[in-house]
Amino acid sequence: ATHKLLLLPGDGIGPEVMAEVKRLIDWIDAQGIARFTIENGLVGGAAYDADKLPITDATMAKADAADAIIFGAVGGPKWDSVPYEHRPEAGLLRLRKDLGLFANLRPAVCYPALAESSSLKREVVEGLDIMIVRELTGGVYFGEPKTITDLGNGQKRAVDTQVYDTYEIERIARVAFDLARKRQNKVTSMEKRNVMKSGVLWNEVVTQVHGREYKDVTLEHQLADSGGMNLVKWPKQFDVIVTDNLFGDMLSDIAAMLTGSLGMLPSASLGEVDAKTKKRKAMYEPVHGSAPDIAGKGMANPLAMIASFGMALRYSLEMGELADKVDQAIAAVLAKSLRTADIKSEGATVVSTSGMGEALLKE
Ligand code: NAI
Ligand code: MG
Repeated sequence: ATHKLLLLPGDGIGPEVMAEVKRLIDWIDAQGIARFTIENGLVGGAAYDADKLPITDATMAKADAADAIIFGAVGGPKWDSVPYEHRPEAGLLRLRKDLGLFANLRPAVCYPALAESSSLKREVVEGLDIMIVRELTGGVYFGEPKTITDLGNGQKRAVDTQVYDTYEIERIARVAFDLARKRQNKVTSMEKRNVMKSGVLWNEVVTQVHGREYKDVTLEHQLADSGGMNLVKWPKQFDVIVTDNLFGDMLSDIAAMLTGSLGMLPSASLGEVDAKTKKRKAMYEPVHGSAPDIAGKGMANPLAMIASFGMALRYSLEMGELADKVDQAIAAVLAKSLRTADIKSEGATVVSTSGMGEALLKE
């Protein structure tokens, strides 16, 4: 089969790290391991410069048709004065919203060679491999009403509303349980049922989905605050964590810092399974931004982008073994003490973006 990919490099270091993914794709193709049909598109500031829009309808149509979207990063000072609705980030938000990408997967993996550079003790992080599943399209970031009202007495009132419907919790729970089955078979659900109605419903629905469809998976519930504490204290107790948009935003950033640099962190955003094609809409992107401070210098770490492509191989393209090889190659280049500047350590060989990409291919 031919896999349809849409590459959206974006701005800043986006195109630099995407070039290393392209190199990997070309290699896979040349080896005859898989065939790809590649579309390219503009997003963010690059799209604004060309079309006065952060993403065009034509690019959205390509995104809709793709088996997987590989996204670099958007934004930068050049577009600071662009009208708010056309700012670079609006391109990313439109992709998430229009494609219904409700499940954000953020792995936190600590590669052995980087265990030293974690913010935590070596024994706490070495061998760490957890997956945070964050609900991405609901909750307090989107719930209505969302207002600031002038109360007239020198006071204002800000209101955000946390809203979750059963179906939203069910579908994110299923994503978490399905992932767990391919990992250590354990899900920890986090909410605040002690103080939030949405936490009560979250807990209830996750428990029901488990009882109906996933009895073979171990399910545990933790309150999101003490869960956060446990994440820092002994993260290896977790396999898959499933949580709402707000808690997931915070917990995934905290988990990220267990493992080292921003330049190492991949992510995936998944939509619903299409009834006809049985496929999910999916976008894969590094957690980092466009890093304007190092753009154009050949210094960017391409491993987050490459690991994101690895997630595409695993979750959209049914090439789990090849995804394992990508992960092993990342571990191997790090074990050989090759480092881009962001993760350099004593005695390491500092390599450029393309130097890292080439070394990875050799592995
Ligand atoms: P950033 O992630 O771009 O950079 C933060 C720091 O980490 C910088 O010092 C940067 O040099 C470094 N860094 C990031 N990725 C790296 C990599 N692959 N290799 C080596 N070093 C790396 O976040 P920042 O500076 O807050 O934002 C810069 C721009 O990116 C802004 O316009 C922001 O809006 C945008 N942004 C876009 C995101 C996206 O496209 N998903 C996410 C976050 C920020
Ligand atoms: Mg965040």
